[in-house]
Amino acid sequence: MQDYREFLLEVLIPEDRLQERIRELGAQISRDYSGQDLMLVCILRGGVMFLTDLMRSITVPHTVDFMAISSYGAGVRQTSGQVRIGLDLGSSVEGRNVLLVEDIIDSGHTIASVLELLGARRPMSLRVCTLLDKAERREASVPIDYTGFVIPNKFVFGYGLDLDEYYRNLPFIGVVQPEKLLHAS
Ligand code: IMP
Ligand code: MG
Repeated sequence: MQDYREFLLEVLIPEDRLQERIRELGAQISRDYSGQDLMLVCILRGGVMFLTDLMRSITVPHTVDFMAISSYGAGVRQTSGQVRIGLDLGSSVEGRNVLLVEDIIDSGHTIASVLELLGARRPMSLRVCTLLDKAERREASVPIDYTGFVIPNKFVFGYGLDLDEYYRNLPFIGVVQPEKLLHAS
């Protein structure tokens, strides 16, 4: 695998800005759910870095659970609109205040399908928290309750987001220079 420095066009969001914004989101969520029961549902795998930092900034008692989604017939950079549960939640959402934790909302198809799936399981409330919003790419209309950053239509990686499953560990969000990638996907 390539060193990311070979194809990094620019650091879009450095580590300190990410961490500062995540603390703000955690404080806001803590105010909004004050006195209420809360369940965080992380969409694997991209949401995992965001979840672990966000939950450290949330001061209300909460549980966490995980769900993996894959999409049918789509390339890495495009969602088809049809999704499949790869790994389902280990616990019930019925009667819970559920907050979905996502890395990025692009076309919106993935999160729209998750909202439909979980909405049918009768949670008390169901909201969405995304670190990144590529708003200009939206195809499905989805309500987003908490947004870290609205970003331009560029392919990004790091802080949970992958390129062919690699580079999720980087503590910043970087922009890809596609022509420098050896394995185009
Ligand atoms: P959507 O269904 O089009 O909203 O796609 C959302 C999913 O596409 C995210 O959970 C990511 O896995 C992936 N994705 C979209 N844009 C990017 C990107 O710029 N970098 C890495 N993954 C992305
Ligand atoms: Mg992905």
